[in-house]
Amino acid sequence: MAQRETLGVGILGAGFIGHFHVDSFTGVRDADVVAVCSLTKESAQSLADKAEATGVGNQVAAYDDIAQLVRDPRVDAIWVLTPNFTRIEVVRAITDEVTSGRAELKAIAIEKPLGRTIAEAREVLELVQGAGLLHGYLENQVYSPGLVRSRDIVWARGAAASGTPYLARAAEEHSGPHNTWFWNGATEGGGVLNDMMCHSVEAGRFLLSPPGTRHSEWLTPVAVTATIASLKWGRAKHAKELQDTYPGVVDYTKTPSEDYAHAVFEFVNGDGEPVIVEATTSWSYVGAGLRLSFELLGPEYSMESDTLSTESRLFMSRNLEQSEGEDMIEKQNAEEGLMPLLSDESMSYGYTGENSYLATAFLKGEQPLEGLEAGLEVVEFLMAAYQSAEEGRRVTWPLDLEDFVPAVAKGEWNPRA
Ligand SMILES: NC(=O)c1ccc[n+]([C@@H]2O[C@H](COP(=O)([O-])OP(=O)(O)OC[C@H]3O[C@@H](n4cnc5c(N)ncnc54)[C@H](O)[C@@H]3O)[C@@H](O)[C@H]2O)c1
Repeated sequence: MAQRETLGVGILGAGFIGHFHVDSFTGVRDADVVAVCSLTKESAQSLADKAEATGVGNQVAAYDDIAQLVRDPRVDAIWVLTPNFTRIEVVRAITDEVTSGRAELKAIAIEKPLGRTIAEAREVLELVQGAGLLHGYLENQVYSPGLVRSRDIVWARGAAASGTPYLARAAEEHSGPHNTWFWNGATEGGGVLNDMMCHSVEAGRFLLSPPGTRHSEWLTPVAVTATIASLKWGRAKHAKELQDTYPGVVDYTKTPSEDYAHAVFEFVNGDGEPVIVEATTSWSYVGAGLRLSFELLGPEYSMESDTLSTESRLFMSRNLEQSEGEDMIEKQNAEEGLMPLLSDESMSYGYTGENSYLATAFLKGEQPLEGLEAGLEVVEFLMAAYQSAEEGRRVTWPLDLEDFVPAVAKGEWNPRA
């Protein structure tokens, strides 16, 4: 029997999202995980073991050196899953290996956000283009089956008959991230606006754009009006809780990162009509767990989606003694009472669809629709939103924010002063 060709994937970064990606590869036919590289050999080995155990890889190599990962002849493409502050350093290490001829690669996929500033994101894009690689921007939400299916139907039935959609609402909320570097503005690049509005603005653009179209070809940005706030974690009690949980976190009573952000992005669509993405994100939502919610409104139709409205729910009585976990839902906050259960989070959040689509495109030598240019555009939206929130005004396009660094990232934002 002829051997099926698959894409050899090298995973760079074996943390929280590395585990999600490896889980998702159980639903990807055109790729095998062949290597994992991380800061320590131990963490790389542990994710490599998981890849072996779940059958998404075979003889998965573990490295703590990026050059070794790129030079591994089984690695065709690298998924960059390291923290935001490492983007330039790791992408340069990868592309240097390729441009110098020491290694060959087909493609690279990079997690959100593409950079902490527009300048960083642009540098990442240019490094990848300079190395001649196919590229994918890892924005999982635009591959989530709930959004993809409803957008297909809304556009085929509603938009075709009554006109294009005009308002997309996208919200992502949870009780706060899982590692110190997210909480510090300098290493993360800001707070929840940077961390999660990157998803919401892109999901909003996705819903408002016809299937098969590049968002930037359909939607011309006009303006953004945004607000950021420190609602929970800047309170003295919670700032202390943060420092006790994550040693090394800055003092949130003085220079917090925003734990709430809201933005209204105005566009003109391909029909010349005004349309809006309304995005809300927070690290101050204490509910059952992570909540992603979406709405799309058009002339004679609407859609809605909420990841906490799950098809299965569990009830756990108060008499059960249980340990804490995230086995029912990401960022789970309770183990008692009526709890939502997502049966396949990698699938629901879009990682499986994302990795299937990218693996197939890379294997065929085709450039994916959601490439790194989309990642750069998203960073531009986020920086404009920060500027709007800082200056309390509506920011209009064209932008001049190449070197803009949010006050939160500079440690200069103190809303309680
Ligand atoms: N798409 C999503 O919904 C989503 C969710 C979470 C995180 N992310 C993104 O994924 C990235 C990683 O986040 P995370 O939550 O996994 O972080 P994490 O802190 O849990 O893990 C980061 C991993 O990268 C490794 N690492 C750090 N510096 C490295 C370097 N220079 N070389 C090699 N490995 C290095 C660490 O050892 C660790 O294994 C971030 O950019 C984040 O924004 C995306």
